[in-house]
Amino acid sequence: MIQDLSHLQDPEPEATRRDTGTTESSRASRGWWDRHADEYQSEHGAFLGDDHFVWGPEGLDEAEAGLLGPVSLLEGLDILEIGAGAAQCSRWLKAQGARPVALDLSHRQLQHALRIGGGIPLVEADATALPFADASFDLACSAYGAVPFVADPVQVFTEVHRVLRPGGRWVFSVTHPVRWAFPDEPGPEGLSVAASYFDRTPYVEQDDTGRAVYVEHHRTLGDRVRDVVAGGFRLVDLVEPEWPAWNSQEWGGWSPLRGNLIPGTAIFVCERA
Ligand SMILES: C[S@@+](CC[C@H](N)C(=O)[O-])C[C@H]1O[C@@H](n2cnc3c(N)ncnc32)[C@H](O)[C@@H]1O
Repeated sequence: MIQDLSHLQDPEPEATRRDTGTTESSRASRGWWDRHADEYQSEHGAFLGDDHFVWGPEGLDEAEAGLLGPVSLLEGLDILEIGAGAAQCSRWLKAQGARPVALDLSHRQLQHALRIGGGIPLVEADATALPFADASFDLACSAYGAVPFVADPVQVFTEVHRVLRPGGRWVFSVTHPVRWAFPDEPGPEGLSVAASYFDRTPYVEQDDTGRAVYVEHHRTLGDRVRDVVAGGFRLVDLVEPEWPAWNSQEWGGWSPLRGNLIPGTAIFVCERA
């Protein structure tokens, strides 16, 4: 007889806005990404491509964007990918002759990196405490990895600064800050301002004991610039990818409808001072 165990499943977490610090944010992220890595990779793996470097749901590809610098100059560089997930970006970097290292907090995400293969060195660690010696890398990058999920992004930037060699680039993408004023919905309901852009209170999903199980942190555009500078970087460019005509795919709250009207991703191109 098959037992009905549905009553034992976790109840839906409650979505709220409340303060949450570094430790609770990290713990929530590790648990959430471990539990949802399979779903994330089966839903988005084909769009990302096993060995492509895609900056976000718009589909901007590093092969065309060249935000890390000219593709022909990547050969031989030591590159740290932060919040690498299944290390798709690192696989593309390796194909260009670079020496990438893929770091992620989630064991399950890194198991997907192993499943896909490619011989990328994988490191399970928190971006707020990078387990590398000073000046180990020429470049660092992150496509939506770690930065949106940490309580104190300056901690991450200071660590990236420490492990980069002088003049090294640090390029990362995050949800465009303006999106925080809108409901996270792909349809027309996601086009009307519903919250203050200036409210930095984190988005938290919590279980019935009040424990955070998912966390995202909001910074305004100005906050992000100040954080980059406080971490010891110079801002070289701020890229807001436009929604391309070829992309008909929805990704959560990112859709062609909204993408044609408001920015969805912000990519910060920084240089170590
Ligand atoms: C949206 S996914 C992006 C993954 C990959 N860059 C991609 O484009 O598919 C965010 C990733 O950041 C990782 N992450 C979240 N917080 C982190 C932290 N504090 N340190 C390192 N990785 C973290 C998650 O485990 C997850 O794999």
